[in-house]
Parts: sequence; C-alpha cells; structure tokens
Amino acid sequence: MKGIILSGGRGTRLSPLTKITSKQLLPIYNRPMIYYPLNTLLRAGIKEILIIVAPERAGDYLNILGSGKEFGAKFTYEIQDKPEGLPQAFTIGESFLCGDSVTLILGDNIFEYDFTEDIRSFRSGGRVFAKEVKDPERFGVVEFSAAMKVLSIEEKPKIPKSHYAIPGLYIYDHRVVQFSKELKPSARGELEIVDLHRKYLERGELDVRMVAGEWVDAGTFDALLYANNLAKEKLAKNLLF
Ligand code: G1P
Repeated sequence: MKGIILSGGRGTRLSPLTKITSKQLLPIYNRPMIYYPLNTLLRAGIKEILIIVAPERAGDYLNILGSGKEFGAKFTYEIQDKPEGLPQAFTIGESFLCGDSVTLILGDNIFEYDFTEDIRSFRSGGRVFAKEVKDPERFGVVEFSAAMKVLSIEEKPKIPKSHYAIPGLYIYDHRVVQFSKELKPSARGELEIVDLHRKYLERGELDVRMVAGEWVDAGTFDALLYANNLAKEKLAKNLLF
C-alpha cells in the first residue's frame, strides 16, 4: 500500500492567507496543516508517500518535509500544473504507484481516527468512509443501507439523500489509474472523485466504513479556526511528528 497526499490548488477561498504560502502549509496550532494528513498515513504504517503540490509552492514543501528520512519514510514529489480534479492524483502518480494499491488523503483533511485496520484489511476494489455531518451539501454524500451497502453517491447535492459526508481519504486498488484516465470532466470542468467511486460501485466493488472521532476539512476560515482549537485541545498530542 502506497500513499498520496494531494496538496495542490491555489487555496483561493483562504486568500489573502494563501498569497504567501500553500493552504496546506498554514499553521494548525503548532504544525503546518500537512503534518496532520501525513501523520494519518504514517500512523497507519504507510511509508512510501507521494506529495502532489502546486508549482509555485514546490520549494516550500521540499524545505519543510524534505526526503522523508526525518519521518522514517520516503517522500516523492510531483507537480500538479493545474488543479483539474482529485482523480488527477492517480494519473500524476501512475509511475509512483507502479501497480500497487493506494490510500489518497487530501492535504487539508484532519482526522482524529486511526485508519490502520481499514488499510491493513483492504484487499481490492474501492473503500470510502462516511461521517455524519450537519451540512452534507458541502461534501460528497454517501447513502447506504443498514448492512452498509452503498446505495448512492453524489457530489455536493442540493438535496442530500443522507447526512453522511465522504471525508477526503480513499483507498483503491491498482485499477484506479485506468479508471481515472477514463473519466470525463463534469459540468464545473473538473474530474470528480465521486465519478471514480462510481466506477467501483457499478462493479459492486465499493465498500463504505464509518469514521469515528473528529474530522475537519480545513478549507474555510471557520474550519481553520476550529481545526486550530481542536489541535491544541486534542489532536496535537497524538502526532508522531
Ligand atoms: C472534496 C471532494 C468531496 C469530499 C471533500 C472532503 O471536496 O470533492 O467529495 O467530500 O473533498 O474534504 P472539496 O473540499 O475539494 O470541495
């Protein structure tokens, strides 16, 4: 199992903070934001990690994270020239993945949950997670049966079919590269991660599991403030680095 942290984009929603650095390097209490998703992967035993960054910020990432040695891991870097959707992570990462399974985490997603068992037990197909939220329309939304069978998946629906958001950590087998190549841009001009989930869903190979504990997508000012307080009160002490 390899890991990818997608840390590209311009972070325009957090301007002017993001005029000088990348969103995923902004402080969350006493660490740069990316330390949190990085810790989520390292804690789950993933040691080979591809970090995908925006061209203007590549130097900042190298300065802060380096080779990975300090973290007991090996980091590889790739540039995302233009942010054209999350599934780009897999086409950019094709040579890094080299036919292995992958866990993708978004560089602004902060979890309290430990994914070790979910990653270790993964064999094939696709695996997404569900977290009950008050504002599902802001996220990918998953609807599932009492037996945890996925019924539907939608990206930011106006009328959500459930209160379960799909957080930004996904596990896929090697077919993810090919499936990503087959995707077409949506109406907003991007490749959509939910369309990738659907490739597995159509084949009856997508499963969903619950995420316990806190989860924050730190992409807005309020979420950033929340994440900072949460890190101070609770999360910072769980970090390996
Ligand atoms: C992305 C995904 C969405 C997911 C969310 C999690 O949205 O498209 O399905 O629920 O990440 O953070 P974004 O935050 O990039 O708008």
